[in-house]
Amino acid sequence: MKAAIIKNYAADIEISEVPKPVPDADSVLVQVHAASLNPIDNIVRAGHMKDIIPLSFPHVMGYDLSGVISKVGTNVSGLKPGDAVYARPNQTDAGSLAEFALVQADELALKPTGLSHAEAASIPLAGLTAWQALIDKAGLKAGQKILIHAGSGGVGTLAIQLAKHIGAHVATTTSASNADLVRSLGADEVIDYKTQTFEDVVSDYDVVLDMLGGDTMKRSFAVLKKGGILVSIKGQDGDNLAEKHGVRFAWFLMSPSGEQLRQLGVLIDKGIVKPVIDSSFELDEVSQAYDRLADGHAAGKIVVAIR
Ligand SMILES: NC(=O)c1ccc[n+]([C@@H]2O[C@H](COP(=O)([O-])OP(=O)(O)OC[C@H]3O[C@@H](n4cnc5c(N)ncnc54)[C@H](OP(=O)(O)O)[C@@H]3O)[C@@H](O)[C@H]2O)c1
Repeated sequence: MKAAIIKNYAADIEISEVPKPVPDADSVLVQVHAASLNPIDNIVRAGHMKDIIPLSFPHVMGYDLSGVISKVGTNVSGLKPGDAVYARPNQTDAGSLAEFALVQADELALKPTGLSHAEAASIPLAGLTAWQALIDKAGLKAGQKILIHAGSGGVGTLAIQLAKHIGAHVATTTSASNADLVRSLGADEVIDYKTQTFEDVVSDYDVVLDMLGGDTMKRSFAVLKKGGILVSIKGQDGDNLAEKHGVRFAWFLMSPSGEQLRQLGVLIDKGIVKPVIDSSFELDEVSQAYDRLADGHAAGKIVVAIR
């Protein structure tokens, strides 16, 4: 099958023929119709997470996918060839920039019926990250105030919509060119990170969702009320500052979940959460797609059509 692969850490991405994966008893083989890109793809490719996510080569790039089941393992029930599904497969199985990909049965959900495969492929990794940050880590409640950094990004666009659905008041940082986008997703307050200092605009917040780490994360502790929580998906070194400010800190790596994708799918089918697509590419253009990702200014998700 055709796939976007690397033959070593930091190597160029090549479109090449590789063997089609074979499902084990608990997994399914999906004919991929569309995939989407995530910043972690480039981090893993560069070898920066070798200790946590070691790769074997050739490595098929990509995590998110939407497609149609072509084979099911012998232990899999409730799914059949022909079912349209979407998923963020685990690190070992992953490889969505390919004509076929493996997914464990409990890591996928039926594709939301109102979405195209391209739209559905934009959801899993970013949507699960937003869900796990807001619901599992922060326990966000109606009436609470949340600051979501980089609200125009893949995770941010979905986190804003989820936080509004929960009933929170949402402030978000982005640049002026994305202000209308984040407002259309429900943001109550938009802070232009290029011209404004977010600490001057918001204070006494219950939750911060940080995707930037570094200085932004350090400064964010000051906008929380006592007992509030900063959830970071980027910076890991927040414990000391959290103690100093009398707040809580959590960093986490998202994990696959078919059940959470099913619940997200319900919100998508009701029109409560909508995909935001920055740009679309063909598999042969995958290097250009990764260049767009690397510039760090995508508004929503970058999608690659496979079929
Ligand atoms: N721990 C985990 O499990 C996990 C999971 C998913 C993602 N992540 C990490 O979270 C980060 C975000 O991921 P993503 O997919 O949302 O990225 P992304 O889509 O590439 O984010 C791009 C967006 O970030 C905005 N942005 C850039 N610099 C900013 C700043 N200083 N302040 C506010 N907004 C800024 C850009 O807006 P402008 O164009 O207006 O600048 C752009 O719209 C990445 O570092 C990723 O590796 C971690």
